[in-house]
Amino acid sequence: MVTVFKDFDVFVEISLKEDCMYENIRGLSFAQISRFVELKVPTLNARTKTLFKDEELIRGKTNKVLLKPEQVKTVINDQINDCNGKVIYIGNLKGGVGKTTIAYLLADIVSSLGFKTCAVDLDVQANLTQQFMEAKVEQPTFCDVIDNKINIKDIIINIAPTLDLIPSSLKNGIIQKSLLTQAPKHYLTWLNSLCLTYLRSKYDIIIVDTPPSLTTLNSVFCLCLKNNDHLVIPACADEFSIVGIGMFLEDVNLIRKSYKTTSKPKTSIIMNRFHQNQTLNLQMFVKMSKTYEEFFSKIVIKDLAKIREVTSNKTSISETKHSSELFEILAELLKEFNIVKTVS
Ligand SMILES: Nc1ncnc2c1ncn2[C@@H]1O[C@H](COP(=O)(O)OP(=O)(O)OP(=O)(O)O)[C@@H](O)[C@H]1O
Ligand SMILES: [Mg+2]
Repeated sequence: MVTVFKDFDVFVEISLKEDCMYENIRGLSFAQISRFVELKVPTLNARTKTLFKDEELIRGKTNKVLLKPEQVKTVINDQINDCNGKVIYIGNLKGGVGKTTIAYLLADIVSSLGFKTCAVDLDVQANLTQQFMEAKVEQPTFCDVIDNKINIKDIIINIAPTLDLIPSSLKNGIIQKSLLTQAPKHYLTWLNSLCLTYLRSKYDIIIVDTPPSLTTLNSVFCLCLKNNDHLVIPACADEFSIVGIGMFLEDVNLIRKSYKTTSKPKTSIIMNRFHQNQTLNLQMFVKMSKTYEEFFSKIVIKDLAKIREVTSNKTSISETKHSSELFEILAELLKEFNIVKTVS
């Protein structure tokens, strides 16, 4: 049978829209929120009733209350830490280890919990950007800020009520060249005044996704990390990942040492895309945990079809059904990054 699309333009328009758009976060249910904090559904319900009028609440298809990001933050206020412009920098020289995936999932969940979030895409391939919007070459990006053509404020794009994005595009490929031709600078002061001081003052959490390479801009970002910030190194169970972590850490240490930086951002190497039934994966896991004992996180993210589904559909995880394993991983990450309080 041959299908003829009479309204082909309409079909293409709808398909493209569905493919390219991140669904705006509508809200989290009490059951979803309770997975991230130590509060049970009845407690969340009772707190909501005392804090908000019925007409201020939105409801889902089954009449369930869905809390908007700002409402979630108010209800769970005693369960979360003040993040005050915390930078979560995600890097590894090895490609395909899940840097962008973790950046996306994290940006989605922390913004849904009401944290004012800025996702920063530093990868020329613009994969994180494309999770949220269409990446356009003419879009103003970081390279325009570095060339002093635009202020950082003017490249920020609003994605959802508590989520903004600094997009990337192929144009960012000239950053390295541009930095080489500029006058020598004190990079710490330079990056802070160029963007970081502003971003830290405006957002609770800044999530930085990076390319699988060691660029000057990436090294300078690591140089500027403070005590409350977090350096996240996703890795897969293979030899290249072990080497990639080593080279990445060496680069970070080199620039921080040369500036005599004393701050100590927390570092977590997180095993991702793990296949627990594969012997080679287990052997590599043991090798990696011994090599980088000091930084090796107890969080292990399995290779999950659900993760691929969420990222390829570009949906918010709050819209995803049967995702308890994914929620568990995110709950652990929120504790690891000191965003949600842990029970002592
Ligand atoms: N835990 C996981 N389970 C299943 N699939 C995963 C998982 N983590 C990442 N992936 C998939 O692995 C692929 C690579 O992930 P991703 O693009 O996030 O890696 P990356 O480190 O950002 O890569 P690059 O260095 O090229 O930017 C993607 O197809 C993603 O959907
Ligand atoms: Mg990536």
